[in-house]
Amino acid sequence: MNTDPAASWLFEKASLGPLQLRNRILRSGCFEGMCPNGAPSEPLLRHHRDIAAGGAALTTVAYCAVSADGRSYSTEMWMRPEIVPDLKRLVDAVHQEGCAASIQIGHCGGFSDPRVIGGRALAPSRVFCAFRLSFPIEMSPDDLERVAADFGRTTALARKAGFDAVEVHAGHGYLLSQFLTAHTNRRQDPYGGNLEARCRFPAEVVARVRAAAGPGMAVLVKMNVNDGFPGGQTPADSTVVAALFEDAGADALVTSGGFTSRTPFYMLRGKVPIREMARNEKNALRRAGLVMFGRIAVREYPFSRTFFLDDASPVARSTRIPVALVGGVCDLADVNRARSAGFSFVVMGRALIRDPGFPTRLEKGETTESDCDHCNRCVAAMDAGGVYCVTRAEEEASIGDECPTAS
Ligand SMILES: Cc1cc2nc3c(=O)[nH]c(=O)nc-3n(C[C@H](O)[C@H](O)[C@H](O)COP(=O)(O)O)c2cc1C
Repeated sequence: MNTDPAASWLFEKASLGPLQLRNRILRSGCFEGMCPNGAPSEPLLRHHRDIAAGGAALTTVAYCAVSADGRSYSTEMWMRPEIVPDLKRLVDAVHQEGCAASIQIGHCGGFSDPRVIGGRALAPSRVFCAFRLSFPIEMSPDDLERVAADFGRTTALARKAGFDAVEVHAGHGYLLSQFLTAHTNRRQDPYGGNLEARCRFPAEVVARVRAAAGPGMAVLVKMNVNDGFPGGQTPADSTVVAALFEDAGADALVTSGGFTSRTPFYMLRGKVPIREMARNEKNALRRAGLVMFGRIAVREYPFSRTFFLDDASPVARSTRIPVALVGGVCDLADVNRARSAGFSFVVMGRALIRDPGFPTRLEKGETTESDCDHCNRCVAAMDAGGVYCVTRAEEEASIGDECPTAS
């Protein structure tokens, strides 16, 4: 057993809203690309069962759109009653391993893919989306009501499927994040203007989710502490946003950053695997664009440990609810930094794509740090049949080549 004091803290039981978790490690929502026709599949179930068996306290089924028009991939799940039985099987498999199950729900807003949704994207305002090379439609009051109701309906269905928690995606430049950011929210009605007004719709959505979740289900909100571009949400804005989410009924916050349509690798840091991304891109125009301009258009940010710690610490200090640190948590020194800064949980993405068993191995003292090298080739893989650690698969294949079976 690992006797490091940071390990004792990490592997003690912890409360998250109404939940009692077996430790303080949450698996981050990482789009799996395993939902053909927008429905959960057997590989998705196995993916989360492996994470659950590997020792994390809670695993998050990544991005589930609250409606069919909130998607940017055809392999993205969207919530409807028909998929509840398969979701329930996934949740049961996760529970059998002693792990809690959460589902991330959201809407892509202005960067929803018109080819996937079969129409133009909805957004807070008609601001050109460079990612889609198109203008979205500004949401009407009826659209706002319909989408807020969809968040509530999706939560109710997730609850029916047995999920312990729901994570509202209000970061990464998705619809709710587009409301929070002045660059994408130019509305002249009560949902636009100063920061408090820009928070109105996201906070209303969190309140709807809270009401639909009931007392037994935890509500997490993933929010940005920095959009990563001038004119975007800043760390100073974030404490205001966090307080409004807390007042709206969130049980916990996950502090992240980056804006998919402008600074997609800000949330990840590390290498940008342009060639693999281009190879896996199905749209010929976008593929050509990536090959020709990818190096300039998709900016690379160097990886560093706990890369949102400084921007997120004021949120951890200012809220009464638990705050979970995501981004570059790789070893117990990172865990200790998060703990000292006032965070209650750590969230791991790539470390668990690389090795779902990392939490258990860390607890047993069999390893001290994640061996993910942040090559981000898993990001390219998620678009081509499902997320996995490409480097690990290559390493295992080369070991196989060196050890031919006796004939
Ligand atoms: C393959 C992949 C897919 C991701 N998909 C999502 C997603 O669907 N929703 C989300 O909020 N974040 C997504 N992320 C970001 C992660 O949740 C996390 O915030 C980020 O990887 C930083 O954490 P890490 O350093 O522990 O990997 C994704 C990351 C990766 C690597």
